[in-house]
Amino acid sequence: MGIFDLNIVQNTEREDNKFRAFALSRRCPRPLQDAFARCNGASSIRGVHPRVQSSAKHAGNPSMMDKQSRLFAPVEIRGVRIRNRIVVSPMAQYSAVDGFATDWHFAHFAKFAMGGAGIVFTEATKVERRGLGTVGDMGIWKDEHIEPLRRISRFVREQGAVPAMQLNHAGRKAGTYKPWDGFGPLDRSVPVEGEEHWPVIGPSAVQYLEGWPLPREMTRADIEEVKANWVKAAERALKAGFDILEVHGAHGYLIHEFLSPASNKRTDEYGGSLANRMRFPLEITEAVRRVWPDDKPLFFRVSAVDEGGWTLDDTVVLSRELKALGVDVIDCSASGISIRSPTASRVAPKLGFQVPYAERVRKDAGIMTMAVGLIVHPRQAQEILEKGQADLIAVGREILYDPFWPAHAARALGEDADFRTLPVQYGWWLDRRRKTGYVEE
Ligand SMILES: Cc1cc2nc3c(=O)[nH]c(=O)nc-3n(C[C@H](O)[C@H](O)[C@H](O)COP(=O)(O)O)c2cc1C
Repeated sequence: MGIFDLNIVQNTEREDNKFRAFALSRRCPRPLQDAFARCNGASSIRGVHPRVQSSAKHAGNPSMMDKQSRLFAPVEIRGVRIRNRIVVSPMAQYSAVDGFATDWHFAHFAKFAMGGAGIVFTEATKVERRGLGTVGDMGIWKDEHIEPLRRISRFVREQGAVPAMQLNHAGRKAGTYKPWDGFGPLDRSVPVEGEEHWPVIGPSAVQYLEGWPLPREMTRADIEEVKANWVKAAERALKAGFDILEVHGAHGYLIHEFLSPASNKRTDEYGGSLANRMRFPLEITEAVRRVWPDDKPLFFRVSAVDEGGWTLDDTVVLSRELKALGVDVIDCSASGISIRSPTASRVAPKLGFQVPYAERVRKDAGIMTMAVGLIVHPRQAQEILEKGQADLIAVGREILYDPFWPAHAARALGEDADFRTLPVQYGWWLDRRRKTGYVEE
């Protein structure tokens, strides 16, 4: 079957579903799978019929997204093929030792890859020790950190998912107790889990909340040093086998602190106007992009709005600048500059409460977006993609509850009649059981 036939096959919904099942199955030859991937959102369209356009190109044009926006449509961003649109959102585990990933991390990430996710993100991995949120944060500030991370990325890839790493620096929010130990600032008069305390820096000497440490305002030398550490961290992430990198520019951490007028009171070229407040985040992104290979995607997580004066219009401006620097996806979260993050809050937000941010950025900055925040139902996720509100769906707490959420979603959406979303070690048996006539409730 050729690519022209493929267009005909896409004519009806029923046939399309049938064909998708075949294209995703192990029976389908790889070249045809690749062509199918491109038809469903490839950003690389080399060698494919001109009618088949990229998802990035159509970002913001929902009418063009019909055939490429479904939850289980593969997508290719730069040289990386992603089997579906489901992303495990970065989630700190507070279980590292001196920044090293442990067996907990291996098991944690492994099960999401086995569960069928398209991309598995590590937690916010710290680019330098000064950027540690708590002593349990994972880090990549020394070469020794690479090996256990490589073991994780290798297994994630073996399971068909794309290993991705989020990089971060906690800035003025550095030095906190673990959530279940109160989540407050560390008492610096006593040792913490046998570790030495670390200094707290930020764009300006402005506390996060009352009772939190007063950060030391970063000098120009600090700015250069932190930038250099981001670059070294990106280089180590590459050595550790990751295919996607995300710059954490949200939730009140260092990069967001430069962006937001609430935390950035500088009077030099890194503070004041929007252009000046964006300077440090853009410089970091540019430096990271320079060492991150051209064929690997770069994501950027924003707090699309915050409580300190950062607006959605600012995010659109920032996203356009990031796109020009080679960022591929804007991951649209929110807040955290001077309140607790929505996940730590006790107020229940609405389903998909941050989706409008992803939609606006996608439309007005013409860049692919990832939606996140209480996306818990397969049909809800599917609809977000079908309406052209986002290109990828990040799932956080729900996937902690059900690491096999992607496999279950595929079944719920009628996309996986014979359990092929699962590893063959599981799927073969379940399919065998199905063939005996067993019917799920
Ligand atoms: C345990 C936990 C740890 C988190 N750690 C991070 C993190 O390291 N980096 C980040 O950008 N967001 C982090 N988040 C936020 C999630 O990535 C996500 O944006 C948030 O949970 C909302 O999505 P959800 O409603 O699907 O959980 C964390 C959330 C949870 C629950």
